Amino acid sequence: MLNIAVLGSGRGSNFLAILTAIENGKIPGARIACVLSNNSSAGILQIARDHALPAYHLSRQQYATEEEYVEGLCGVLDGHGANLIVLAGYMKLLPAELITRFRSRILNIHPALLPRFGGKGMYGMHVHEAVLMAGESESGATVHSVDEIYDHGVILLQKKVPVFPGESADSLAARVLAVEHELYPEVIRRLASGELVLPAPEVPAHS
Ligand code: GRF
Repeated sequence: MLNIAVLGSGRGSNFLAILTAIENGKIPGARIACVLSNNSSAGILQIARDHALPAYHLSRQQYATEEEYVEGLCGVLDGHGANLIVLAGYMKLLPAELITRFRSRILNIHPALLPRFGGKGMYGMHVHEAVLMAGESESGATVHSVDEIYDHGVILLQKKVPVFPGESADSLAARVLAVEHELYPEVIRRLASGELVLPAPEVPAHS
């Protein structure tokens, strides 16, 4: 059973798409264990509460040290038996210790075709503006596993959308988001059914 902890900072539309797929029986073998946000007023927390799911506001500022913060995060994740972390619009870099502990069991969704248009600073509308500026004829969404580098882990699945001549970043963003809402539940369905297997953790390189 995939016992999923969802981390997000904003509106939570990807979380809602995943939750709806689970509630509609489209992802047998997966459940939402808990939802965490660094932002107390994030829509994602409200969605979780509306669905009677455990919802936590948890941020670095609430803790005196990084160590206590990581303990706080792990306490919630372990307390709910989470075995997969799904980042859905989470705007903070995860603590390295958490990435190590959940190595290859953390997913993220990015609103472009990685490895292009990713990395630090490439979030939200910046991504779509960069795609338009580059004159691309297509964009899309990518689900990838998470490591210590922004938008860098193994690519698990992508879905493309066309970029129309002269279109605005808003219009492209809306089309990409619609595809995200299909892609993320599909990746989780494949993981739950065993059709997709997460890459084994890489052995860290020693210098
Ligand atoms: C999505 O566009 C996702 O690709 C990016 O952050 C956005 C989150 O949107 N990582 P939402 O909170 O899921 O609506």
